[in-house]
Amino acid sequence: MPPYSYVELVPYREGKVELLVPNPETSWQSADVPVFLNPRAARVNRDVSALLLSVLKPKDVLDGMTATGIRGVRYFVESGIPEIAFNDINPRAIDLAQKNAKKYGVNARFYQKDFCVLCNEERFWAVDLDPFGSPAPFIWSAARAVRSGGYLLVSATDTRPLSGASPKQALAKYGTILRKPEWYPELMARVLYFLLFHAAAIHGKGIEPVLAFTYEHHVRVVARLREKPSLITKNAKQIGFYEIDGKQYGPIWTGPLQDRELARCALERWDSDYTRASKKILELASREPDVLGYYNVHLWSKRLKLKQIPRFDVITSALRDQGFVAERVLWSDKGIKTDADPQVFEEVLLSAGEDK
Ligand SMILES: C[S@@+](CC[C@H](N)C(=O)[O-])C[C@H]1O[C@@H](n2cnc3c(N)ncnc32)[C@H](O)[C@@H]1O
Repeated sequence: MPPYSYVELVPYREGKVELLVPNPETSWQSADVPVFLNPRAARVNRDVSALLLSVLKPKDVLDGMTATGIRGVRYFVESGIPEIAFNDINPRAIDLAQKNAKKYGVNARFYQKDFCVLCNEERFWAVDLDPFGSPAPFIWSAARAVRSGGYLLVSATDTRPLSGASPKQALAKYGTILRKPEWYPELMARVLYFLLFHAAAIHGKGIEPVLAFTYEHHVRVVARLREKPSLITKNAKQIGFYEIDGKQYGPIWTGPLQDRELARCALERWDSDYTRASKKILELASREPDVLGYYNVHLWSKRLKLKQIPRFDVITSALRDQGFVAERVLWSDKGIKTDADPQVFEEVLLSAGEDK
């Protein structure tokens, strides 16, 4: 394999590390570049993951599609993970990951294998799956490779099928019948947890959701997997449907999305080396009520022909005064999550609109 003489490597600082990466100005737009790095949306994904792993503290992590090695190096340096397994099918990626890991003295193993082959051969306390597009082709192997009590961290960027914008693709990739709801960013995480549930259950493992979020076109879910038949039975009861115009869609994961306490602990580790977006995600996750979906205040205000969008704090206080839970959501800055039914929400919005 030729060295990098024909690829411009530049220093790139992110979190608490500075690594050599292909020039981010020119290389993030295409999946065809020699070694891939997305310094924007994926950075937030990496920040949140590094903060979360510093709380979860697995004994090792498989950075299963590592590209530059940036996740694994950050998990070693920032999260204090004792051992990192770096893998990528692309030999140039592994060459670069080796250079970057060496700089920080990472206790590392390197593989250049197809993700599914490696996952069928070895077991890990945490598996990070970060593919281009959909994780569906890799999920069964990933769920198999996670030790009982370990973690599966999964990214997806195929937002059209996940959000219900392409129902045929959603059925093909995720085995579910979807229609795009007003809370579609959250739906994407619920479809991914459904995928995780099914993949884990096939290997005799149940899932415990830890954290789910979206940032731009990235969706990320993290779950703990346990070899525990009673957990699988419990999970099965949390698979269900959502309704639009009297019709049911799904199946999807209808259970909790966040472990609020773990999100709060991860938030305590945040400092100014991390993106503000990662802080906001963890803050909102640590308060997110266990309710399916949310109301899009902008859509409702338009529908109700309100002259102005009511203030969000006025809406949430009015709902809380009536005994409902009400919080802003991490899924959209237009959303409010509450257990109030649509009629109550409409009344609150109308009176908050009058108050303006
Ligand atoms: C989205 S990039 C990973 C980005 C990286 N995790 C980060 O945070 O910067 C996907 C990577 O998966 C690798 N890849 C694609 N198919 C693979 C497979 N079947 N097995 C292992 N690696 C694969 C590609 O070479 C590419 O480097």
